[in-house]
Amino acid sequence: MPPAGDPAVPDEFVQALRELGLAGAGVLTGAPLTGGVSSDIWRIDTPQGPVCAKRALPKLRVAADWHAPVERNLYEARWMQVANEASPGCAPRVLGQHQGLGVLVMSYLASADYRLWKQLLRDGQADPPTAQAVGHALGRIHAHSAARPALAAEFATDGIFFDIRLEPYLLATARRHPDLAPALEQLVEATQSHAVALVHGDVSPKNILIGPRGPVFLDAECAWWGDPAFDLAFCLNHLLLKCLWNRPATAAFLAAFDALADAHLQAVAWEPRGALERRVAALLPGLFLARVDGKSPVEYITAEADRERVRRVARALLQHPVDRLALVRTAWQEELAR
Ligand SMILES: Nc1ncnc2c1ncn2[C@@H]1O[C@H](COP(=O)(O)OP(=O)(O)OP(=O)(O)O)[C@@H](O)[C@H]1O
Ligand SMILES: [Mg+2]
Repeated sequence: MPPAGDPAVPDEFVQALRELGLAGAGVLTGAPLTGGVSSDIWRIDTPQGPVCAKRALPKLRVAADWHAPVERNLYEARWMQVANEASPGCAPRVLGQHQGLGVLVMSYLASADYRLWKQLLRDGQADPPTAQAVGHALGRIHAHSAARPALAAEFATDGIFFDIRLEPYLLATARRHPDLAPALEQLVEATQSHAVALVHGDVSPKNILIGPRGPVFLDAECAWWGDPAFDLAFCLNHLLLKCLWNRPATAAFLAAFDALADAHLQAVAWEPRGALERRVAALLPGLFLARVDGKSPVEYITAEADRERVRRVARALLQHPVDRLALVRTAWQEELAR
């Protein structure tokens, strides 16, 4: 029995840890970690020390009905392994993955040393070196994988990626803005037709821990062999949106945007940088609009006037795409200055 008052470690985790040889026969204790909408995630104290165990849920804990296949947990483990090869320490270390039970066990990163980037940004802490480190690590993962096309076979997740990224973000938004549907559908097609590298698929500040040796990417359940433009656009989108969360920190967020984009683009060796940048600059307004009108709106934009600001800028850029990220940033900067 766990100590009185502590919740019991779920049976699936106990069984998975035992079968993976990561726990002895004794009672395991631990605590659920907060934040996950798509998985059960726990810190579990094993005789060798704490580990983090994650089990994908078939239905996400979000308002819209949103299902996702549980085998995504296997792709998450694989993504972490490739990322750590590309840039050591940029993902938790995979200690084991139990396919039958859908459980991933990884190193536990204690909150004393690792802070969620989202919390830092909320407090207006958007220093360019951190953003640069995020862009650099992400670029290295893309470059490393792009040079190893055999990896594509390990991430044949087109169906999952469509169901949990392209459809709920871009196509759901197209249904709310029928006049933009051709442009948004075109973005889906462009994203699907540039399968050149390993994509994380959820590079959001809530999935990035900032630790003593730089950023650590979590939550790679959307891993996909596809267009790296998606990751860069997805992440930059959050830096634009954060301006509405903490208005006084706008200049810092926009400087972080430039730093992250530049660092990533520096790493682009698999295709002309300008070609990738053009796809990111085209996709970003679609994702921007998706975070107010798609299936997964950000929780911190609550004023209708702010949603309208996003719509104004996104709609203009979707109608008249630009090919440089600085132009996307400037369009948003000008809107915020109005
Ligand atoms: N290896 C780890 N060490 C310590 N804490 C972790 C680790 N992995 C995840 N966490 C914590 O658990 C939270 C949820 O993790 P994760 O994002 O992987 O789950 P999720 O259910 O897929 O989340 P969501 O769908 O909400 O993004 C993270 O924000 C982080 O605070
Ligand atoms: Mg997460």
